[in-house]
Amino acid sequence: MQAFLKGATVQATRPQKDKAAAGPSTEKKAKAIPWVEKYRPKCVDEVAFQEEVVAVLKKSLEGADLPNLLFYGPPGTGKTSTILAAARELYGPELYRQRVLELNASDERGIQVIREKVKNFAQLTVAGTRTDGKLCPPFKIIILDEADSMTAPAQAALRRTMEKESRTTRFCLICNYISRIIEPLTSRCSKFRFKPLANQIQEERLLEICKKENLKYTKESITALVQVSEGDLRKAITFLQSAARLNVDKEITDRAIVEIAGVVPVKMIDNLLQICFRGTFEKLEVAVKDIVDEGYSATQILSQLHDSIIEQDLNDKQKSAITEKMAVVSKCLSDGADEYLQMLSLCSVIMQQASEN
Ligand SMILES: Nc1ncnc2c1ncn2[C@@H]1O[C@H](COP(=O)(O)OP(=O)(O)O)[C@@H](O)[C@H]1O
Ligand SMILES: [Mg+2]
Repeated sequence: MQAFLKGATVQATRPQKDKAAAGPSTEKKAKAIPWVEKYRPKCVDEVAFQEEVVAVLKKSLEGADLPNLLFYGPPGTGKTSTILAAARELYGPELYRQRVLELNASDERGIQVIREKVKNFAQLTVAGTRTDGKLCPPFKIIILDEADSMTAPAQAALRRTMEKESRTTRFCLICNYISRIIEPLTSRCSKFRFKPLANQIQEERLLEICKKENLKYTKESITALVQVSEGDLRKAITFLQSAARLNVDKEITDRAIVEIAGVVPVKMIDNLLQICFRGTFEKLEVAVKDIVDEGYSATQILSQLHDSIIEQDLNDKQKSAITEKMAVVSKCLSDGADEYLQMLSLCSVIMQQASEN
């Protein structure tokens, strides 16, 4: 219960912060909140690019009933922001803490928590009016963020609660991978897929932030930001903030962005591939060692190699053999394997495939 109370007070203070942020710009500068929080959409209308779910939520803001929800999709596409904004609009700042229970992966969410915390909260009955006299929905919302990290027994325990308390409680499950949610849960929810944000939408958002923060930037830097973040607006905003901190009073350039994002220079990747295609294994060993010693992360190298292999002059069979190896390497890396050995093993497969040309 304690973690919940803590979460609730944080939530309750948030709307006040928002008000302060809308004040004069001098006040804004004094606050050291991350920009992803500062520029989180405050109402459902501000959520860009996810028309479907916004339409459904707006209907329920107008008084229609709300189904149990399941949001899924890649990170940084607005899942958490959407439900938080909707809940705040539904209940207003005061009722929010009584009506919304927010649990995410950092909280303990084993079967015990589902049994006690969620069940107790779900069982409280609620009235259909707000303290300010406005109508509000006669149900509470339980947000389970990052639900794909919940254990299967905990998910199973949730299913009965979901059904039994359907008169007073709506659930909103949020996850990246819908395949990790058990089928009985997915079938009880309306599912909404959050698409990776289109480049133009990201650009608009970033430009808006640049304007509000009075940043100096080149056009290319925004394009670079969108490119390195691959549809993840959270990543883009975080990079932008780091770039702004590093380039106080200076212009933010695309080079600064590439540096911050840890992108491997194109030349290095090209060089590595050239050695795979034409060099010897001894040279390859040195080249891989160099690139890893430069401190570039193996996952980054992997993703850039992938993009560039697709463009190369190899036949489909060769490409598929290489990309299959990439999948294996990616899994090994996420399991904590040695970066140098994995990269070397991948490059030797590329070399072997290329030699069949
Ligand atoms: N569709 C969107 N519209 C507006 N802002 C967005 C959108 N998606 C992401 N953002 C921005 O990215 C940040 C992270 O979004 P969040 O909702 O936490 O993503 P996630 O889908 O990973 O839960 C937010 O602070 C917000 O500024
Ligand atoms: Mg989230």
